[in-house]
Amino acid sequence: MVPYLVVKKLNKDFESSGESFEVFKDLNFEINSNTSTALIGESGSGKTTLIHLIAGLESPDSGTIKIGDFDIWKYSEQKRANFRLNNISIIFQQYNLIPSLNVLNNIKFHSQLIKNYDQNFRDELINLLGLNKLLKKYPEEISGGQQQRVAIARAILTKPKLLLADEPTGNLDEENSTKVTNAFEILLSRYNSTIVIATHSKKLAQNLNVKLIIKNKKINKI
Ligand SMILES: Nc1ncnc2c1ncn2[C@@H]1O[C@H](COP(=O)(O)OP(=O)(O)OP(=O)(O)O)[C@@H](O)[C@H]1O
Ligand SMILES: [Mg+2]
Repeated sequence: MVPYLVVKKLNKDFESSGESFEVFKDLNFEINSNTSTALIGESGSGKTTLIHLIAGLESPDSGTIKIGDFDIWKYSEQKRANFRLNNISIIFQQYNLIPSLNVLNNIKFHSQLIKNYDQNFRDELINLLGLNKLLKKYPEEISGGQQQRVAIARAILTKPKLLLADEPTGNLDEENSTKVTNAFEILLSRYNSTIVIATHSKKLAQNLNVKLIIKNKKINKI
């Protein structure tokens, strides 16, 4: 097993209303290449913050985050953005679809940007995630769970080296959650991706290779 994501001595505080709030203290962990990891912990423990730190969207106060050979906080914003675009796909807790694009164009957006758009895989994902009848609709015209599946299709279609998913089944029923799990499975088995999923779902976590729990500003394997 090769460590793909390596986090060392990570510290993160938030300042709000003049007070400092410590989210992570001396966080250390590794995630191996081509594995799936569940990031669990109670609401407010720091799952979303950690996903944003790994994605290079939120800066640590100190410590290092390495993805492969890339030390993400060592470089300029431009270099970091470029690395993120080409290597990482993120499924945000709030979906972050583009309001002015219809469902089909939202799904295609990221993969077209990085020029690895695969039409056959697109059709496979649209079928798998049950999005056929929604393709011409706009994000505001579809439900939260439907938006969530569009965001998932968009992220998976890029065949990312690293997929970061924040509560990807938070708005889905059991049947749709299973469809999403099957889509993640394709990334793991066919495209050798590494997957990190923040989730409150015990069922989803059970299906993943490794479980990491955030508690008291630290992270541990369970
Ligand atoms: N921008 C911010 N400014 C100040 N505090 C913040 C900020 N973002 C997050 N926090 C605080 O950091 C802590 C971790 O938040 P985070 O959103 O990472 O939790 P979470 O584990 O994802 O929770 P949930 O399961 O509810 O999504 C919380 O106590 C939150 O209030
Ligand atoms: Mg969260």
